[in-house]
Amino acid sequence: MVFGVILAGGIGSRMGNVEKPKQFLTVGDKPIIIHTLEKFCVNSKFEKVIVLCPAQWVNHTKNLIKKSLKNTDKVVVIEGGSTRNETIMNSIRYIEREYGLDDDTIIVTHDSVRPFVTHRIIEDNVRYAMEYDACDTVIPATDTIVESSGHDFISNIPDRSIMYQGQTPQSFKAKKLKELYEGLTEKEKEILTDACKIFVMKGQQVYLVDGEVFNIKITYPYDLRVAETLIRGE
Ligand code: CTP
Repeated sequence: MVFGVILAGGIGSRMGNVEKPKQFLTVGDKPIIIHTLEKFCVNSKFEKVIVLCPAQWVNHTKNLIKKSLKNTDKVVVIEGGSTRNETIMNSIRYIEREYGLDDDTIIVTHDSVRPFVTHRIIEDNVRYAMEYDACDTVIPATDTIVESSGHDFISNIPDRSIMYQGQTPQSFKAKKLKELYEGLTEKEKEILTDACKIFVMKGQQVYLVDGEVFNIKITYPYDLRVAETLIRGE
């Protein structure tokens, strides 16, 4: 079985002083999270699309979905976790409880604040997670990446031709991800902000799926303006 996992458990602190987490802000004519969900709900491969949000926003999200989406049968809203990876783990626990986990259970995890994901990217994620157990969506780095461990001077400039920028979806065999995550120490869990890094740290391969330059993550107020422009052009 394949599950869509929409990560909306964050509070959007970098968006500044707004009245609600950024995933609920409106771009074009609807909330960002609804744009994102629409992309997932049209895909018939998903058994369920699981939306995870902060506990106090669960009812709001359910109401929003009820009034904004035509077919809500496939969508379920549950509570996220204290970190992004904990949010992903909550989705796996839900799947395990409701459906059981087998070796081929796939989760396609996606930031709720990346509304411009495409059908092709989602399809590629499903395909390559099945084939390689884990995949990440990336685009080639356009700017040179400069590394500075002390934040004052350059410590390294990696070869740009082998650098990529990570996007989402990131997709996994859920059982394998859970087992690898449970094998981490609490300290390792703290520093691991990226789910694919769990695989990488444990020496497992992660296939690269081609992303799109426009598959942006809405993080800062500026991104909202970019998103408005992109929506008008879509
Ligand atoms: N996310 C999540 N659970 C968390 C933290 C983040 O599901 N505990 C989700 C966010 O809701 C977002 C995605 O992960 O859709 C990408 O994270 P980011 O852009 O960092 O979102 P926030 O954590 O909300 O933003 P900020 O870091 O500015 O507070």
